[in-house]
Amino acid sequence: MLFFPELNRGKCKTYLVACEHTRKALLIDPVRENISRYLAFLAYQQLRLDGIVDTHTHADHPTASFQLRELTQARLIMHRRAPVPAVDQHVEQGDTIEVGDSALKVLYTPGHTPDSISLYAGDRVYTGDVLLIGGTGRADFAGGDAGQQYDAITQKLFALPDETLVYPAHDYRGNTHSNIGQEKKTNPRIAGRTREQYVALMASLNFPMPDKIQEVLQPNQSAIHDDKTKFPDLTELNKVRQLAAPEVHAMLGSTSPPFLLDVREPSEYRGELGHIPGSVLVPLRELAARTGELEAQRGRPIVAVCRSGVRSTTAAAMLYGLGFERVYNLKDGMIDWNDRRLPVER
Ligand SMILES: [Fe+2]
Repeated sequence: MLFFPELNRGKCKTYLVACEHTRKALLIDPVRENISRYLAFLAYQQLRLDGIVDTHTHADHPTASFQLRELTQARLIMHRRAPVPAVDQHVEQGDTIEVGDSALKVLYTPGHTPDSISLYAGDRVYTGDVLLIGGTGRADFAGGDAGQQYDAITQKLFALPDETLVYPAHDYRGNTHSNIGQEKKTNPRIAGRTREQYVALMASLNFPMPDKIQEVLQPNQSAIHDDKTKFPDLTELNKVRQLAAPEVHAMLGSTSPPFLLDVREPSEYRGELGHIPGSVLVPLRELAARTGELEAQRGRPIVAVCRSGVRSTTAAAMLYGLGFERVYNLKDGMIDWNDRRLPVER
């Protein structure tokens, strides 16, 4: 495996690895403003882009993945819980990502987000934003969970050999890498802390919400990058009432069942996860233009459905903003519905 120096030379880190025999390459966490640089570098190195990995759904920069995928036909690889529809290969703990004759091993390391993975190969691990150099990624929005993060770091990353090099997705102090042994010993967030102490510390940090976070996050969650779509703000998103899969299933069996609005892409509706029988498909990207079709449902409860419950929360907030009052979201989406073996059609 060929490992190249970090490509952005900024606070957001993008890495490139390649197979020296086949010249196939994999980009990790590309940022949209540097697409031309990546393509020029790949051409200069005589590499062919074979895959793109986002280690998680980013909240601080628009991803380059959707555009690079269109320009190069490289496959987009993300964890199974990634909300976005553009993913070509979903991975889980223990899977391998092949790059020509080489491979990276996937570690599922949630906590910063529910879809965070780390990639382990040779002498190094790419940790995304779960473990940073002398820090950890924040766990206070977009489905973050400090307890899960502690478990992922201490049980999966700290189980790697001490000399394993650590390459995170962000660094704010000019570092390029550290190693597992050093983080175990000196990481000021986690070294010497119990899980409870870590959770309490993370809850006490009170970081300000990044500016314009929803303007970056929702396009990265939905692959909708047009100027027409007006995404709801955080207050509107927080108003959406979340229902777990068993609650929705019980409502469907009641005398006044809800209207099920599936907002995924048609390929997902008929794809591997299937759809809930009776649900009506209106993809999120078309929702604003097609709300007229929902007028007849105004009196009924409406439950929005998607892959992981993220795009459907956006959809529910949009409908709420249009005066639909009884709007709910299927929490954790069709992934959880399938995990609980509730009925689906394909
Ligand atoms: Fe992040």
